[in-house]
Amino acid sequence: MHQDRIRHPAFMKKVTTAAEAARLFRNGMTVGMSGFTRAGDAKAIPIALAERARQEPLRLTLLTGASLGNGSDGLMADAGLLARRMPFQSDATLRRRINAGEVMYIDQHLSETAEQLRSHSLAPVDIAVIEAVAITEDGAIVPTMAVGNSASFVQQARCVIIEINLSAPLALEGLHDIYLPQGQPDRLPIPLIRPEQRIGTAAIAVDPARVAAIVITDSPDSPSTVEPPDEETAAIAGHIVGFFGQEVAAGRMGMDLMPLQAGIGSIANAVLHGLIGSPFRDMTMYSEVLQDSAIALLDSGQLRFASASSITLSAPVHEHFLRHIRDYRSRLVLRPQEISNHPEIVRRLGLIALNTALEFDIYGNVNSTHVAGTRMMNGIGGSGDFARNSHLSLFVSKSVAKAGAISSVVPMVSHVDHTEHDVDVLVTEWGLADLRGLAPRERAPLIIERCAHPDYRAPLRAYFDEAVRRGGHTPHLLEQAFSWHARYEASGAMLPS
Ligand code: COA
Repeated sequence: MHQDRIRHPAFMKKVTTAAEAARLFRNGMTVGMSGFTRAGDAKAIPIALAERARQEPLRLTLLTGASLGNGSDGLMADAGLLARRMPFQSDATLRRRINAGEVMYIDQHLSETAEQLRSHSLAPVDIAVIEAVAITEDGAIVPTMAVGNSASFVQQARCVIIEINLSAPLALEGLHDIYLPQGQPDRLPIPLIRPEQRIGTAAIAVDPARVAAIVITDSPDSPSTVEPPDEETAAIAGHIVGFFGQEVAAGRMGMDLMPLQAGIGSIANAVLHGLIGSPFRDMTMYSEVLQDSAIALLDSGQLRFASASSITLSAPVHEHFLRHIRDYRSRLVLRPQEISNHPEIVRRLGLIALNTALEFDIYGNVNSTHVAGTRMMNGIGGSGDFARNSHLSLFVSKSVAKAGAISSVVPMVSHVDHTEHDVDVLVTEWGLADLRGLAPRERAPLIIERCAHPDYRAPLRAYFDEAVRRGGHTPHLLEQAFSWHARYEASGAMLPS
């Protein structure tokens, strides 16, 4: 049984149930699980672990690639299993537990977790749990729809549990490129100079002696939850297409642009959708996650090649993708997140980074993570890896949230993920502010006039004008800088009614 999936004889006798495999875990262990933006996550072990945690004391530190699907993060959090969690999540239940102070959450640049494990700056991984399409004749693990941190977890862990997912087609084999950098300080340059290049192996090598259990599953990845493009996101995309056109006209890039990175969520997905039908051709992506829009751009023929660490799709696009996987395979590669997000490569390739802000301020600082500076939304993800090192760093946002009660353009961001130094261009549905080469006093009027919602422009101008009267390189009214957030917390609206 499962001979086409488990092709190395030494592994066959390791097949067991999830409940049995879950008995290997001990209270206080550090666990590394596959899974990145709801793709490629282990399906059975999280459920079995949550079950155990409901019966007996079991608290773990859980590391993943990024967010998990199937409600696993919420299930494990509710069972009290998660003592510590890193480096990213996007689950409503886990978010509540993090914001209640019950789960210690370490929000981290996604390229850095593997580096910290390698240098022993984090506790070693006791058990790695990795979802796989198959185990090859050589005894290597073929990941499913995400690579994430799986290769590093396997390399570091004392023991490995593999979940073979029968619903993941064997045709996924050959999609992956596994390469891990050497240790520091004598590391060689990562030999990747084009998005389509393969520099590693097709599967994750593992010593059979360290594989403690193999569990068979059959459930697909959770579909992505992105909303379809709307009027505002279409307007944002329109501004960006116009801006790219100007960059081409100025001779700073060709019609193939520079390799594109696009963040998670509905807005980034919609912005990429907006490139369909644009004049740009022969484009490439060097991103961490591919959403529906990337598949649509491959289908339109405008996207020549896409490199990422995971693919997370809505149900119909997932089905379409798997039906045509053999056609897509030559135009896609999935890499470890350390490589998809690596500062060395992001800078070398000269990426255009498109990420989403919750809010940004009149000088260009961006908050992507904390509502009112306090409550965690998801996490910084890879946005910092890309924003700081890209050729062009764009942040997009709708100009208002919560039916207009919140302005996304504020006097001072209530939490800083991306400083003004990492932000080149800001875009909302109202327009685009190109901040390159501008001093703070030049940025503020441009951001207010181009990006803020009309209802908020006069109060923002009033804040800036008064701050300028007081002076400074980056003028502020410290006693008022967070008054909009404070008013929202107290009354549910940033401006007085
Ligand atoms: N204050 C409070 N809430 C805000 C807000 C603000 N300034 N701006 C947006 N929101 C809320 C929205 O109302 C929405 O709430 P809902 O889920 O209750 O409807 C939620 O945030 C998501 O916003 P949405 O407009 O649907 O955008 P999105 O799906 O594109 O997500 C981020 C936006 C910022 C949350 C998301 O992109 C993110 O987590 N980014 C950080 C990580 C990242 O950039 N990773 C990519 C690297 S490759």
